[in-house]
Amino acid sequence: MSETAPVITIDGPGGVGKGTISRLIACRLGWHLLDSGALYRVTALAALKQGVDFSDIAAVTQVASTLDVVFEPGNSEVRVMLAGADVSAEIRTEACGELASRVATISAVRQALLARQRAFRVAPGLVADGRDMGTVVFPDAELKIYLTASAEERAKRRHKQLIDKGVSVNLTRLLEDIVERDERDMSREVAPLKPAEDAVLVDTTTLSIDEVVTQVSDLWNKVS
Ligand code: C5P
Repeated sequence: MSETAPVITIDGPGGVGKGTISRLIACRLGWHLLDSGALYRVTALAALKQGVDFSDIAAVTQVASTLDVVFEPGNSEVRVMLAGADVSAEIRTEACGELASRVATISAVRQALLARQRAFRVAPGLVADGRDMGTVVFPDAELKIYLTASAEERAKRRHKQLIDKGVSVNLTRLLEDIVERDERDMSREVAPLKPAEDAVLVDTTTLSIDEVVTQVSDLWNKVS
Protein backbone atom coordinates (compact mmCIF):
# COMPACT_ATOMS: atom_id res chain seq x y z
CA MET A 1 0.00 0.00 0.00
CA SER A 2 1.35 3.47 -0.91
CA GLU A 3 1.82 6.27 1.63
CA THR A 4 -0.97 8.32 0.10
CA ALA A 5 -4.64 7.44 0.57
CA PRO A 6 -5.80 4.43 -1.46
CA VAL A 7 -7.71 4.97 -4.72
CA ILE A 8 -10.10 2.76 -6.65
CA THR A 9 -10.53 4.05 -10.21
CA ILE A 10 -13.72 3.31 -12.11
CA ASP A 11 -13.48 4.15 -15.80
CA GLY A 12 -15.63 3.32 -18.79
CA PRO A 13 -17.90 4.74 -21.48
CA GLY A 14 -21.01 6.89 -20.99
CA GLY A 15 -24.15 5.36 -19.48
CA VAL A 16 -22.34 2.27 -18.17
CA GLY A 17 -23.31 3.02 -14.55
CA LYS A 18 -19.97 4.35 -13.30
CA GLY A 19 -21.64 7.11 -11.27
CA THR A 20 -24.03 4.79 -9.44
CA ILE A 21 -21.42 2.08 -8.82
CA SER A 22 -18.78 4.59 -7.68
CA ARG A 23 -21.22 6.24 -5.26
CA LEU A 24 -22.25 2.90 -3.75
CA ILE A 25 -18.65 1.69 -3.38
CA ALA A 26 -17.57 5.01 -1.80
CA CYS A 27 -20.53 4.80 0.57
CA ARG A 28 -19.77 1.20 1.51
CA LEU A 29 -16.12 2.00 2.27
CA GLY A 30 -16.81 5.42 3.80
CA TRP A 31 -14.47 7.00 1.22
CA HIS A 32 -14.51 10.23 -0.79
CA LEU A 33 -15.90 10.35 -4.30
CA LEU A 34 -14.58 12.14 -7.38
CA ASP A 35 -17.02 12.57 -10.28
CA SER A 36 -14.46 13.82 -12.80
CA GLY A 37 -17.05 14.05 -15.58
CA ALA A 38 -18.80 16.73 -13.53
CA LEU A 39 -15.65 18.88 -13.77
CA TYR A 40 -15.72 18.71 -17.58
CA ARG A 41 -19.46 19.36 -17.55
CA VAL A 42 -19.06 22.40 -15.26
CA THR A 43 -16.24 23.73 -17.44
CA ALA A 44 -18.53 23.47 -20.48
CA LEU A 45 -21.42 25.12 -18.64
CA ALA A 46 -19.23 27.94 -17.30
CA ALA A 47 -17.85 28.57 -20.80
CA LEU A 48 -21.40 28.64 -22.17
CA LYS A 49 -22.55 31.08 -19.48
CA GLN A 50 -19.56 33.34 -20.13
CA GLY A 51 -20.31 33.33 -23.85
CA VAL A 52 -16.92 31.82 -24.66
CA ASP A 53 -16.28 30.59 -28.19
CA PHE A 54 -15.73 26.81 -27.86
CA SER A 55 -13.15 26.84 -30.66
CA ASP A 56 -11.05 29.36 -28.72
CA ILE A 57 -8.75 26.95 -26.87
CA ALA A 58 -7.06 29.63 -24.72
CA ALA A 59 -10.41 31.03 -23.58
CA VAL A 60 -11.87 27.61 -22.69
CA THR A 61 -8.64 26.73 -20.84
CA GLN A 62 -8.88 29.97 -18.91
CA VAL A 63 -12.40 28.97 -17.82
CA ALA A 64 -11.12 25.55 -16.66
CA SER A 65 -8.23 26.97 -14.68
CA THR A 66 -10.32 29.60 -12.89
CA LEU A 67 -13.36 27.40 -12.26
CA ASP A 68 -15.19 28.38 -9.06
CA VAL A 69 -16.70 24.97 -8.38
CA VAL A 70 -17.56 23.29 -5.08
CA PHE A 71 -18.91 19.77 -4.56
CA GLU A 72 -21.22 19.70 -1.56
CA PRO A 73 -22.00 16.19 -0.32
CA GLY A 74 -25.74 15.88 0.35
CA ASN A 75 -27.87 13.02 1.68
CA SER A 76 -28.00 10.96 -1.49
CA GLU A 77 -26.46 13.15 -4.22
CA VAL A 78 -23.55 15.55 -4.34
CA ARG A 79 -24.60 19.13 -5.10
CA VAL A 80 -22.45 20.86 -7.69
CA MET A 81 -22.08 24.59 -7.06
CA LEU A 82 -20.73 26.92 -9.76
CA ALA A 83 -19.94 30.43 -8.48
CA GLY A 84 -22.34 29.79 -5.58
CA ALA A 85 -25.26 28.59 -7.74
CA ASP A 86 -26.54 25.01 -7.72
CA VAL A 87 -25.96 23.65 -11.25
CA SER A 88 -26.41 19.94 -10.38
CA ALA A 89 -29.39 19.49 -12.74
CA GLU A 90 -28.14 21.83 -15.47
CA ILE A 91 -24.86 19.94 -15.97
CA ARG A 92 -26.66 16.59 -16.41
CA THR A 93 -28.39 17.47 -19.68
CA GLU A 94 -27.33 15.64 -22.84
CA ALA A 95 -26.43 19.01 -24.39
CA CYS A 96 -24.02 19.74 -21.56
CA GLY A 97 -22.53 16.22 -21.84
CA GLU A 98 -21.96 16.84 -25.51
CA LEU A 99 -20.18 20.16 -24.87
CA ALA A 100 -18.19 18.54 -22.03
CA SER A 101 -16.88 15.91 -24.42
CA ARG A 102 -15.76 18.71 -26.76
CA VAL A 103 -13.87 20.66 -24.08
CA ALA A 104 -12.40 17.36 -22.85
CA THR A 105 -10.47 17.00 -26.13
CA ILE A 106 -8.38 20.07 -25.26
CA SER A 107 -5.08 19.02 -23.71
CA ALA A 108 -4.60 22.30 -21.76
CA VAL A 109 -8.08 21.95 -20.24
CA ARG A 110 -7.23 18.44 -19.03
CA GLN A 111 -3.96 19.74 -17.62
CA ALA A 112 -5.76 22.60 -15.84
CA LEU A 113 -8.11 20.11 -14.14
CA LEU A 114 -5.43 17.60 -13.12
CA ALA A 115 -4.34 19.05 -9.74
CA ARG A 116 -7.94 19.68 -8.77
CA GLN A 117 -8.75 15.99 -9.35
CA ARG A 118 -5.68 14.71 -7.49
CA ALA A 119 -6.58 16.89 -4.48
CA PHE A 120 -9.55 14.55 -3.88
CA ARG A 121 -7.13 11.80 -2.83
CA VAL A 122 -7.37 12.11 0.93
CA ALA A 123 -7.78 9.60 3.77
CA PRO A 124 -9.45 7.27 4.26
CA GLY A 125 -9.58 6.77 0.48
CA LEU A 126 -11.04 7.81 -2.85
CA VAL A 127 -13.28 6.27 -5.47
CA ALA A 128 -12.58 8.12 -8.74
CA ASP A 129 -15.09 7.92 -11.59
CA GLY A 130 -14.19 8.94 -15.15
CA ARG A 131 -12.49 8.08 -18.41
CA ASP A 132 -8.78 8.44 -17.60
CA MET A 133 -8.70 7.88 -13.83
CA GLY A 134 -6.58 4.73 -14.10
CA THR A 135 -4.51 5.77 -17.12
CA VAL A 136 -3.62 9.41 -16.37
CA VAL A 137 -4.94 10.91 -13.14
CA PHE A 138 -4.18 8.07 -10.69
CA PRO A 139 -1.82 5.69 -12.55
CA ASP A 140 -0.68 4.25 -9.19
CA ALA A 141 -4.22 3.42 -8.00
CA GLU A 142 -4.49 0.31 -5.85
CA LEU A 143 -7.41 -1.05 -7.89
CA LYS A 144 -8.47 -0.10 -11.42
CA ILE A 145 -11.84 -1.13 -12.77
CA TYR A 146 -13.00 -0.65 -16.36
CA LEU A 147 -16.75 -1.08 -16.76
CA THR A 148 -18.26 -1.95 -20.13
CA ALA A 149 -21.75 -2.74 -21.48
CA SER A 150 -23.22 -2.85 -24.96
CA ALA A 151 -24.18 0.56 -26.40
CA GLU A 152 -27.85 -0.55 -26.54
CA GLU A 153 -27.85 -1.46 -22.85
CA ARG A 154 -26.13 1.83 -21.93
CA ALA A 155 -28.68 3.82 -23.94
CA LYS A 156 -31.49 1.98 -22.11
CA ARG A 157 -29.94 2.76 -18.72
CA ARG A 158 -29.44 6.43 -19.53
CA HIS A 159 -33.00 6.55 -20.89
CA LYS A 160 -34.40 5.15 -17.64
CA GLN A 161 -32.26 7.53 -15.58
CA LEU A 162 -33.56 10.54 -17.52
CA ILE A 163 -37.18 9.36 -17.50
CA ASP A 164 -36.95 8.88 -13.71
CA LYS A 165 -35.81 12.49 -13.48
CA GLY A 166 -38.81 13.59 -15.53
CA VAL A 167 -36.77 14.38 -18.67
CA SER A 168 -38.38 13.03 -21.85
CA VAL A 169 -35.90 11.66 -24.38
CA ASN A 170 -35.92 9.54 -27.49
CA LEU A 171 -34.14 6.19 -27.06
CA THR A 172 -32.88 5.97 -30.67
CA ARG A 173 -31.49 9.50 -30.48
CA LEU A 174 -29.86 8.67 -27.14
CA LEU A 175 -28.19 5.61 -28.65
CA GLU A 176 -26.83 7.71 -31.52
CA ASP A 177 -25.51 10.32 -29.06
CA ILE A 178 -23.84 7.66 -26.89
CA VAL A 179 -22.12 6.04 -29.87
CA GLU A 180 -20.95 9.44 -31.15
CA ARG A 181 -19.65 10.53 -27.74
CA ASP A 182 -17.81 7.20 -27.19
CA GLU A 183 -16.21 7.59 -30.59
CA ARG A 184 -14.96 11.08 -29.69
CA ASP A 185 -13.77 9.99 -26.22
CA MET A 186 -11.94 6.94 -27.59
CA SER A 187 -10.32 8.59 -30.59
CA ARG A 188 -9.07 11.84 -29.03
CA GLU A 189 -5.33 12.34 -28.86
CA VAL A 190 -5.11 13.24 -25.18
CA ALA A 191 -6.14 10.77 -22.48
CA PRO A 192 -8.41 8.72 -24.76
CA LEU A 193 -10.98 6.45 -23.17
CA LYS A 194 -9.31 3.04 -22.84
CA PRO A 195 -8.67 0.54 -20.06
CA ALA A 196 -5.38 0.91 -18.16
CA GLU A 197 -3.11 -2.06 -18.83
CA ASP A 198 -3.59 -3.23 -15.26
CA ALA A 199 -7.36 -2.59 -15.12
CA VAL A 200 -9.88 -5.33 -14.38
CA LEU A 201 -12.58 -5.38 -17.08
CA VAL A 202 -16.14 -5.92 -15.85
CA ASP A 203 -18.83 -6.39 -18.51
CA THR A 204 -22.02 -5.22 -16.82
CA THR A 205 -24.43 -5.84 -19.74
CA THR A 206 -26.28 -8.62 -17.93
CA LEU A 207 -25.39 -7.70 -14.34
CA SER A 208 -27.51 -5.86 -11.78
CA ILE A 209 -26.11 -2.88 -9.87
CA ASP A 210 -25.79 -5.04 -6.75
CA GLU A 211 -23.87 -7.70 -8.65
CA VAL A 212 -21.38 -5.13 -9.97
CA VAL A 213 -20.93 -3.57 -6.51
CA THR A 214 -20.30 -7.03 -5.05
CA GLN A 215 -17.73 -7.86 -7.75
CA VAL A 216 -15.85 -4.59 -7.22
CA SER A 217 -15.96 -4.99 -3.42
CA ASP A 218 -14.63 -8.55 -3.71
CA LEU A 219 -11.81 -7.33 -5.94
CA TRP A 220 -10.94 -4.61 -3.42
CA ASN A 221 -10.96 -7.12 -0.54
CA LYS A 222 -8.46 -9.22 -2.48
CA VAL A 223 -5.96 -6.39 -3.02
CA SER A 224 -6.32 -4.55 0.30
O1 C5P B 1 -19.04 10.95 -17.24
P1 C5P B 1 -19.74 12.11 -17.89
O2 C5P B 1 -20.78 11.72 -18.90
O3 C5P B 1 -20.29 13.07 -16.88
O4 C5P B 1 -18.59 12.90 -18.67
C1 C5P B 1 -18.88 13.90 -19.60
C2 C5P B 1 -17.75 13.98 -20.62
O5 C5P B 1 -16.57 14.45 -19.96
C3 C5P B 1 -17.35 12.66 -21.24
O6 C5P B 1 -18.09 12.36 -22.41
C4 C5P B 1 -15.88 12.83 -21.55
O7 C5P B 1 -15.70 13.42 -22.81
C5 C5P B 1 -15.43 13.83 -20.51
N1 C5P B 1 -14.64 13.20 -19.47
C6 C5P B 1 -13.30 13.00 -19.69
N2 C5P B 1 -12.51 12.48 -18.72
C7 C5P B 1 -13.03 12.13 -17.54
C8 C5P B 1 -14.40 12.29 -17.29
C9 C5P B 1 -15.20 12.81 -18.29
O8 C5P B 1 -12.80 13.29 -20.77
N3 C5P B 1 -12.21 11.66 -16.61
